[in-house]
Amino acid sequence: MLIGKQSDIRPAEITPESVYRQRRRFLQQAGFATGGLLLASGCTADEDELELRRLAVSRGSPFSTDEEPNAFEDIISYNNFYEFGLGKRDPARLSGKFHPRPWTVTVDGEAERTGTFDLDDFIRGQPIEERVYRLRCVEAWSMVVPWNGIPLAALLKPFKPTSRAKYVAFETVMRPEEMPGQRRGLLDFPYVEGLTIAEAMHPLTILALGIYGVELPNQNGAPLRLVVPWKYGFKSIKSIVRISFTEQQPPTTWSLAAPREYGFYANVNPEVDHPRWSQARERRIGGGLFNEKIPTRMFNGYAEQVASLYAGMDLRKNF
Ligand code: MTE
Repeated sequence: MLIGKQSDIRPAEITPESVYRQRRRFLQQAGFATGGLLLASGCTADEDELELRRLAVSRGSPFSTDEEPNAFEDIISYNNFYEFGLGKRDPARLSGKFHPRPWTVTVDGEAERTGTFDLDDFIRGQPIEERVYRLRCVEAWSMVVPWNGIPLAALLKPFKPTSRAKYVAFETVMRPEEMPGQRRGLLDFPYVEGLTIAEAMHPLTILALGIYGVELPNQNGAPLRLVVPWKYGFKSIKSIVRISFTEQQPPTTWSLAAPREYGFYANVNPEVDHPRWSQARERRIGGGLFNEKIPTRMFNGYAEQVASLYAGMDLRKNF
């Protein structure tokens, strides 16, 4: 994703303690469910450290892959979140001052119902499901993440989008005082993204609130982020504050920053290379010492579910 100067990149300098503390908190949370894990972690319950609340999650979605999920530690320590910095470890290291609560979501544009809602009201009554999805970054690495979220369609339908609503636009929070990457102007913030209305309403598309049965850590886009598993990871916009139904295709941060490199659709496609690297293969994060690249699959392996959305479309032009 790099378009900035190499000198902007910080050395990887996460403190082992901060990863340890996050893991410890997670294990403590898990311990409340199992008892056993709490003992196994060797931790004593410390109320002050319970920062990631458990979520009530239903499992067994037919959309989940049975591939082995990445470890919690991988998922929370190797991130892209330019609001906190360019380095993969910056989001974990520099998001401690970010406050994901209280949080509001504004829904506006071409819909019968619009307004600004407290997050709890926005999601009220919607069951949270586990969806174990592959995540393929445009940079040619990937993970398997057990997301906890709500189908976007279930959240959007009550707003009754009108027939003019052809697209759905998303916007990340703007809080330079809490987000050092915004202060440094690393991208043209706020980060914005968009989907066609058919993509937004597709049953694979979710708004995630958690991973591994606990609330999203800040670095993963707390408290609410999009997950669109057949698209490159940059479509999965984090820390969403606005969702707009639009008639025109909305601008997207990466296609504005580098239009020849990043398109609006950004469907995972091993046959269409990035101008600067191949997209045919990917490296699974956490794969150990001889971490060979594995083949990338069309639509990230979700072709059966989503290929019909693009019938007749030239996927080289609409990249
Ligand atoms: N959302 C915002 N607001 N800012 C970002 O920099 N990075 C994107 C996406 N969402 C990004 C974002 C990219 S490039 C990827 S690969 C995924 O988030 C990474 O999600 P993860 O850190 O949870 O793995």
